[in-house]
Amino acid sequence: MESKNESWGSRTGLILAMAGNAVGLGNFLRFPVQAVQNGGGAFIIPYLVCFVLMGIPLLFTEWSIGRFGGRTGNHSTPYILDSMGKSSLWKYIGVFGIFTNIAVVAYYTYIESWTFIYVIHTLIGTFTGMSKEEVSNFFMQYVQLDGADFGISYLPALVYLLVLGVNIYILSTGLGGIEKVAKVGMPLLILFGAVLAFKGWTMGDDYASDAFPSANAWEGINFLWTPQYSSLLDPKVWLAAAGQIFFTLSVGMGSIQCYASYIKKNEDIALNSLASGFTNEFVEIVLGSAIVIPIAAGFLGLDWVIANAGFGMAFQTMPYLFQQWGEVFGMIAGLCWFGLLFFAGITSSLAMGTPWMGFMQDEFGWGKVKGALSFGIIALIMGLPTILFYQYGYFDEYDYWAGTVSLVVFALLETILFVWVFGMNKAWEELNHGADIKIPLAYKWIMKYVTPLLLILVLSAALFTPEANDWSGALSGLVAGEGWDFDSGSLVSKVTQDDLKQLLLEDAQ
Ligand code: PHE
Ligand code: NA
Repeated sequence: MESKNESWGSRTGLILAMAGNAVGLGNFLRFPVQAVQNGGGAFIIPYLVCFVLMGIPLLFTEWSIGRFGGRTGNHSTPYILDSMGKSSLWKYIGVFGIFTNIAVVAYYTYIESWTFIYVIHTLIGTFTGMSKEEVSNFFMQYVQLDGADFGISYLPALVYLLVLGVNIYILSTGLGGIEKVAKVGMPLLILFGAVLAFKGWTMGDDYASDAFPSANAWEGINFLWTPQYSSLLDPKVWLAAAGQIFFTLSVGMGSIQCYASYIKKNEDIALNSLASGFTNEFVEIVLGSAIVIPIAAGFLGLDWVIANAGFGMAFQTMPYLFQQWGEVFGMIAGLCWFGLLFFAGITSSLAMGTPWMGFMQDEFGWGKVKGALSFGIIALIMGLPTILFYQYGYFDEYDYWAGTVSLVVFALLETILFVWVFGMNKAWEELNHGADIKIPLAYKWIMKYVTPLLLILVLSAALFTPEANDWSGALSGLVAGEGWDFDSGSLVSKVTQDDLKQLLLEDAQ
């Protein structure tokens, strides 16, 4: 049995583990696609505003809630929230903070397992000499379990089991194991990302030729970075930006609170939360935007990128493009790419596993091994149907509520609890206890009014997304007395982890 006072080994370990939690597949696969689909430079301003007005306040809130809970020996949101508010309702609300992780991890680990098998395929030269279509088909056949890969039709399920097993094993070794993985994985990830980003930034139109007539990497970079103000009034862009901020910072899920509950009681959380949040933003904005988009534009042109922007590009297009750099550097690039995705993925899936284990520890006194194994079983039960029956999309409805709506709902409720029920003065004191920096006082006001208000806006806009996401049509229809034609299941899924699912259900076809 572990001691009640288990904590992170060092400040570096804490920051790397938290940064590893945040930096994930979302930074490299989701962010570029969201940016392109929402107008490139038009996306960036709402994205940064959401980071400042929702992302940072939620980081402050979740780190504070977590460390507060850990002080009284609680490591899961049901117990922590219960200890902060009088109503017994908070305990049930806290269940969100376990459940959502399990729901998301079921997909997430599957994608992580693709990155793993793609490392292997890069190493053994599977993609060498393949045409663009062949590389793309390879992926589709893989996810359709049609036996093309090593002749084993259920290979994807086996690889999934293996990767899940690795996660279970690491989780069973406790915080120490998580810290070790983050200490190795995060620097490597940044190194690999830098190698690829350097290519992305410097290839320009070097590859323009008969084979790649419209090749120009700069166009990709300019498209992402030239601010456009025209779509600032488009709710769709704002929702996508808010969703990306939620997903990429891992807020509204319960995993930050759980990690934070293992912080020593006098350890700074103000600076550390910012350090890990900004690390995530660096990796997302600087590295995440410098790889897939410019490299794809550098060969296939910006028009191709805009027409094909999707989660699948990473697996269906990149291995083909890397080959153009010659056998040796092509392989290095492939290893960098899938290696960085794997590290990004695993440090995040570990984070999604801990809230369940924390709860089992709080509730039944279960140790790490039992906790990790039981997590694995649940993840497996939820994940296998996704793999085996993904083409039927039955997971959709469930996922929509569990993995998407609940994120925003939970963030809103915990914010209300923290700043209104627990109280802003106490909350501010909690956040600043042991702080190594002075947070601008404006944040007290932002956290109390601006963040909850924005969360309410996001939630309502997401729930009442009009049919076909046609906001101006719906608004004028409303004014004209035709009522609001909303699409019950649309935008909320686009707001958060839509792409994970999209990847499985649509892009792969
Ligand atoms: N933030 C991670 C990413 O960008 C995803 C994640 C969400 C991880 C919630 C943990 C908890 O991919
Ligand atoms: Na992220």
